[in-house]
Amino acid sequence: MKAVGLYKALPSAHPEALVDREIPTPVPGALDLLVRVEAIAVNPADYRVRGQKADDGQFVILGWDVAGTVLSTGPGVSSAFRPGDAVYYAGDLTRPGANSEFHVVDSRLVGHRPRTLSAAEAAAVPLTALTAWEALFDRIGFSRTDKPRWQTLLIVGGAGGVGSMAIQLAKLIPGLRVIATASRPESQAWCRSLGADAVIDHFGDLRQQLADLVLPQIDAILILNDSDRHFPALAEILAPQGTLCSVVPFKTAPDINSIMRKSATLVWEFMFTRSMFATADMGAQRDILNTVAELIDAGQIKSAATHDLGLIHAANLRAAHGRLESQRTIGKLTLTGF
Ligand SMILES: NC(=O)c1ccc[n+]([C@@H]2O[C@H](COP(=O)([O-])OP(=O)(O)OC[C@H]3O[C@@H](n4cnc5c(N)ncnc54)[C@H](OP(=O)(O)O)[C@@H]3O)[C@@H](O)[C@H]2O)c1
Repeated sequence: MKAVGLYKALPSAHPEALVDREIPTPVPGALDLLVRVEAIAVNPADYRVRGQKADDGQFVILGWDVAGTVLSTGPGVSSAFRPGDAVYYAGDLTRPGANSEFHVVDSRLVGHRPRTLSAAEAAAVPLTALTAWEALFDRIGFSRTDKPRWQTLLIVGGAGGVGSMAIQLAKLIPGLRVIATASRPESQAWCRSLGADAVIDHFGDLRQQLADLVLPQIDAILILNDSDRHFPALAEILAPQGTLCSVVPFKTAPDINSIMRKSATLVWEFMFTRSMFATADMGAQRDILNTVAELIDAGQIKSAATHDLGLIHAANLRAAHGRLESQRTIGKLTLTGF
C-alpha cells in the first residue's frame, strides 16, 4: 500500500521531511478494524512527533484524523461494525498513524461518521472534537443538559482546530457565555461565525479587554495555545473556585500557588490518554464520536474543515505541516485520496 512517513526529523520544507513509500498492508488484531483511508486531517501532533523522530532508520507513519471505510474486522469486534461502514476516528498515538492507504485501528476508538459530510469534512472532526468534548465535559465538568455549573467560559486560541470545535460544543451548554480569543480580523470573524458571544485578542491585554466587556472574572478557562505566556493573566482572571483546563504543556512550570487562594482547579486534557493507557472507559471515544456525528447531521455543529490540500502524498503533506507550523491556520486542513 502507499504510505507517507519519515526516517528522521527534518524541517517541513526539506524534501526528505516526509517521503512516499510502498509498504505491506497491515493486518487487523482481534479488536481492530482494517480501514480504507479516504481523507485525513493534519494536527500539531503530526509536526510535534515529526520533530521528535529519532534518527534510527525506522520508517514512521504520522496522521491521527481519518475518514474511511471499513474493509474487514478482527474476530473480537462487536457487531456494531461491518465491512462497508463509513467511519471516522483519531486513533492511538502509540500505533502507526493513518497517512497510508489502509490503516488498522482499535474499534473502541471509532465512530460512524456523519452522513451529511464529505470524507474531508469528516476527517477534520475527530481529534479536535474529542479534545474539546473531553475538556469541556469530562475534565471541566460541564453538562450538555443541566443548568450550567458556571456562566462564563474563555477559550484561548478559538480559531484553531480545537478552538473551532470547543466554541461550538460550548454553545450547546444552556446559558453559557462563551468568549474566544483570536488575533486577526479573519480569525476573529471565524470565531463569531461559530457562535462565540465575544472575541478578544490573545496578544492584547486580556484583563482590560474582559473588563471592557464587564467581565472581570471568568468561571472556566480552556487554554489551547501558549500556556506559558497566558497563564499569569489567566490566573488573575479566573474566578474563585473556577477551573482552568489546558491541552498544552507548559515549557516552564507555572506558579500554581497563584491560584491556591482561589481554591481553583487546574486540569489537563490529553486526547490520547484513553487509548495510550487502554483505560477501562476507552470506548467513551466511540460514543463521543457517534454523538458528535448526530449533532453534525442535526445541523447543531459543523465541521471546521477550511482547506483541502489535495491528494495524500509526501509533497502535499509537507506543505500541510508547513502551514500548520505557522500557527496561523483557521479551522482544519485536510487531504483527500491517494
Ligand atoms: N492535549 C491534547 O489532547 C491536544 C489535542 C489537540 C491539540 N492539542 C494542542 O493544542 C494546541 C492547539 O491545537 P490546534 O489544533 O487548535 O492548533 P492550530 O489549529 O494550529 O491553532 C491555530 C490557531 O492558534 C492561534 N494562536 C497562535 N498563536 C497563539 C497564541 N500565542 N495564543 C493563543 N492562540 C494562538 C491562532 O489564532 P490567531 O491566528 O487568531 O492568532 C490560530 O488560529 C496545539 O499546541 C496542539 O498540540 C492538544
